[in-house]
Amino acid sequence: MMKNVAVIGFGNVGAGVIELLWQGRVAGLALKKVVVKHPEKPRPFELPPAMLTTEISKVISAPDIQVIVELVGDAKVAAEVVLTALKNGKDVVTANKLIIAEKGDSIFTTAAKLGRFVGFRGTFVGCHSLIHELNEARLSASRIKRISAILNGTSNYILSTMTKEAKSFDEALSEAQRQGYAEQDPSQDIDGIDTAYKLRILLGLINDTRRPPGNFPIEGIGGITLQDIRYADELGYRIKLVGVIEQPEKAAFVRVHPVLIPPDSLLGSVEGNNNAIEIEDELGVTSGWVAPGAGRYPTSVAIIKDLVDIAQERKPLFPQGDALIPLGDIGELQNRYYLRFSVVDQSGVLAQICNVFWQYNASLATVMQKEGRSRDFVPVVMTTYPVKERDLWQSLTEINQLEIIKAPTQVIRIYER
Ligand SMILES: NC(=O)c1ccc[n+]([C@@H]2O[C@H](COP(=O)([O-])OP(=O)(O)OC[C@H]3O[C@@H](n4cnc5c(N)ncnc54)[C@H](OP(=O)(O)O)[C@@H]3O)[C@@H](O)[C@H]2O)c1
Repeated sequence: MMKNVAVIGFGNVGAGVIELLWQGRVAGLALKKVVVKHPEKPRPFELPPAMLTTEISKVISAPDIQVIVELVGDAKVAAEVVLTALKNGKDVVTANKLIIAEKGDSIFTTAAKLGRFVGFRGTFVGCHSLIHELNEARLSASRIKRISAILNGTSNYILSTMTKEAKSFDEALSEAQRQGYAEQDPSQDIDGIDTAYKLRILLGLINDTRRPPGNFPIEGIGGITLQDIRYADELGYRIKLVGVIEQPEKAAFVRVHPVLIPPDSLLGSVEGNNNAIEIEDELGVTSGWVAPGAGRYPTSVAIIKDLVDIAQERKPLFPQGDALIPLGDIGELQNRYYLRFSVVDQSGVLAQICNVFWQYNASLATVMQKEGRSRDFVPVVMTTYPVKERDLWQSLTEINQLEIIKAPTQVIRIYER
């Protein structure tokens, strides 16, 4: 039986989905209504005038519409649309990661109770192909042990531009905004929040639970300087913003932060606004994907896959369980670190720093003293061998109080797996 679809939002993504539906690309689905806020706004192509409306609540309760695609952007409106449409008996597709990451519990519970479909591939476009893979993995004998991923195209574009074109962070951000890769307010992207939403969704999927985990550490890329990019290059690394989930036993160690990573690794080689994901199961089998993480057509294609599932009446792939995922303490993890100190240019400085490290069992792999541009301090770059995160921070608290330290120390983890 033919199902009628309404798309709420005719913006960047909406235009792609509407175009594909209007061309009849999904057998069994017909585009019936498109809801917008400003009907007078010019659109990339014309639709029959009767199809366009501003009456959102009328559309999501219309008896002749069976499927709602929510693409409004505003999280409050999006959550209201999704939950009301489900309660009105519609199947729903959304691309809003914030509402799936933070209200996924009530959305999935409502859908499960009412036997409705919720599609959300558009919330993690760059790795949406994984959704089937993750579902299979859940059912198979091998558990997923680790996911490491670049999930934010804006941050990756900025870091790639700094690396390739020797631009400062601010110059690379302006370039990303000019190219349409970064919003006017880019904080969700560069502060790591967007990556954290996507990790939260993945965490629920791999553990088959609708219950969101507690807070985990999130660091963005706002503090990365061109100097760090250059020193990382000298050491044989790229700098990338990654999200990591490690599940050695019962607890999950989850975090978002920049890392130094070898350029010939999957994540280290990802350029521009692409996303990438690497998954390792408990048997040590590793697989990975690289794909665009945003944009009209990449996002529309992910959404269309949800719509195909609805048209073919496949089972929804959202998590069904409600177990709480215990989060591990990342202070217990061992990492290697890149450290950039700003120290006074005098003898004995290195001995003072090494003396503190020695007390915390932190040993150094490399030390590079650089010529300073400032008269007040010179940069000293060090890398460590693996050291427990808690010990590293405790040693730095002591080191940062030494008189020889003239500016906050830059700390970036080194990711080698
Ligand atoms: N852009 C991407 O690459 C991308 C990637 C993945 C996920 N997403 C997600 O996809 C969703 C849509 O993003 P977008 O970039 O397409 O947003 P957008 O370009 O800002 O478009 C939003 C659309 O929603 C309409 N709208 C807003 N409030 C409305 C209301 N109260 N009633 C009716 N219509 C309303 C707007 O109408 P008017 O046009 O009339 O103003 C506009 O057409 C967001 O949740 C976003 O996070 C986007």
